Amino acid sequence: MSHAPGTHRRRRRAPRPVPLALAGALVATAAVALPHLTPEASAATTLRGYADGRGVRIGAAVGDTPLTSDASYTAVLDREFNSVTAENAMKWDAVEPSRGSFNWAAADRLVAHATSHNQGVRGHTLAWYAQLPSWLKNGNFSATELNTILKSHIDTEVGRYKGKVYAWDMINEAFNEDGSMRSSLWQDKLGTGYIANALRWAYTADPAARLYINDYNIEADNAKSDALYALAQQLLVQGVPLHGIGFQSHFEVGKLPTSMKANLKRFSDLGLEVSITELDIRIPLPASSAELTQQSTDYKSASENCLGVPRCAGITLWGVSDKYSWVPGTFNGYGAALPYNESYAAKPAYTGLSNGLDPNA
Ligand code: XIL
Repeated sequence: MSHAPGTHRRRRRAPRPVPLALAGALVATAAVALPHLTPEASAATTLRGYADGRGVRIGAAVGDTPLTSDASYTAVLDREFNSVTAENAMKWDAVEPSRGSFNWAAADRLVAHATSHNQGVRGHTLAWYAQLPSWLKNGNFSATELNTILKSHIDTEVGRYKGKVYAWDMINEAFNEDGSMRSSLWQDKLGTGYIANALRWAYTADPAARLYINDYNIEADNAKSDALYALAQQLLVQGVPLHGIGFQSHFEVGKLPTSMKANLKRFSDLGLEVSITELDIRIPLPASSAELTQQSTDYKSASENCLGVPRCAGITLWGVSDKYSWVPGTFNGYGAALPYNESYAAKPAYTGLSNGLDPNA
């Protein structure tokens, strides 16, 4: 969505007849560009309608299972979201299960789905400590060989989706909470220089993709985000192609950091895009109605904390409905973290998020 903010809003307020040939092009490229055909009350008031109107992304992490087996899921996904992230399908273990042998089936399915529903794709992720195939984890490679392996994986994957992935979470979870570099295969063998190298290789493979460093617990101004800020500054000074910071934003209800907006702004002030990349807001189960109301407030605040900052590119949720969320399996006793419940009914959180995206709410 490279439209200047306001373009769509203007068009929405004063619809003009569109020549027939042009109308076809609009249908193909932008869901929001249909106000002359679609009453305000329908498409424009979906999450993606509001996001399109502001020229930003509203995304969801998508698993291959619901994508291929649950029509209620895809109906919501395609109505409400203009961006998707592969929840697992583009990770190392999925893509390169044995050395030099690639499995693109699930990743290709998602990209094809996105293309046919006018959704952008965020790629996730190329240098992370987790979800590595065992040949790689246990291979005991020399630094030189590991460097070659990482470069070839990045060249191949970013190259395959050139022009189809608008942003990549290149580097994922590279820091400890105290701001030191987290131990990982990459960090331990290659040193922090792997970050600049990975970004440069990806830039060569697809110069148009926005390249991100992504992490959690960096939403507040704290030791971890300070360390990331220092690294980002340094990479930019060195001319490394770093374009954005992804704030995962796996929150607990009622605990949004108060410094979030100011923290995102300091990264934006470096000239970087900022995006919320994995938003979910978990609740101790069973969720009370007070907690569901608080969660709605939190969704609104989180989205406003990004959209209120220059260079906020968008907000991605880590899932669509509570039915497939990673939360219950990861945070013992927690769940109900997404705006749709297990039966695809919109929760109060949907209204909160929608109001956060609607410039007139
Ligand atoms: C999670 C997926 O949701 C799970 O299905 C998988 O088992 C583990 O990974 N931060 C990230 C994501 O960057 O890749 C993680 O996704 C959630 C935390």
